[in-house]
Amino acid sequence: MIFRQVFDNKSSTYTYLIASAKGREAIIIDPVIENVESYIKLLQELDLKLVKVIDTHIHADHVTGANKLKQATNCSTLMGEHTPADAVEIKVKDDEIIKIDQIEIKAMYTPGHTSDSYSFLMDKYLFSGDTLLINGTGRTDFQNGSSKDAYNSLFNKLLKLPDDTLLYPGHDYNGNLSSTIGKEKEHNPRLQVENVDQYIEIMSNLNLSKPQMIDQNISRNLKLGKI
Ligand SMILES: [Fe+2]
Repeated sequence: MIFRQVFDNKSSTYTYLIASAKGREAIIIDPVIENVESYIKLLQELDLKLVKVIDTHIHADHVTGANKLKQATNCSTLMGEHTPADAVEIKVKDDEIIKIDQIEIKAMYTPGHTSDSYSFLMDKYLFSGDTLLINGTGRTDFQNGSSKDAYNSLFNKLLKLPDDTLLYPGHDYNGNLSSTIGKEKEHNPRLQVENVDQYIEIMSNLNLSKPQMIDQNISRNLKLGKI
């Protein structure tokens, strides 16, 4: 298996490239439009063919590179079936398995940050989008977010995975590369709650400012980045 984690400085987004060493087929999770040329260069350097591009959800803080990658490589676009983006070619259901050569990736519906948020599990690697972050969790105050749904996605789905599951989030603002489910259960301040009401209370009092360009980003992301 080939694995690369790429960081976008402007939006603090992590993009992931996963490929099969044997068949040389690759997928990219959560690409950022400004970095598409660098992903293509990386694919060429590693002698890989991009077959699928996945967005974990409709992002508010950056524009997806999904459509641009599709134009450049003829890959398929994929999101969870709850996506409001009509342009997505493959829509997967909760628990559906995505296969690329010998690699199997399980789609997990994890709403809360947004109503269309999915996480993706490949062996011990969990790509959690913005549902579970390192020492944090995704905000729930726009895009049909719900703190109650987020609690359920976290406590009844992601935190039920084995403690040694490797966590690769959609963002990190503090220079962390990865974590584990066990570490997050123990140290993530948002997860030290006893019930859903306590979680809703924390999330209701974050007082975060709106991301810049949120409306423009969402409307472009509904078209997978097309203008
Ligand atoms: Fe997000």
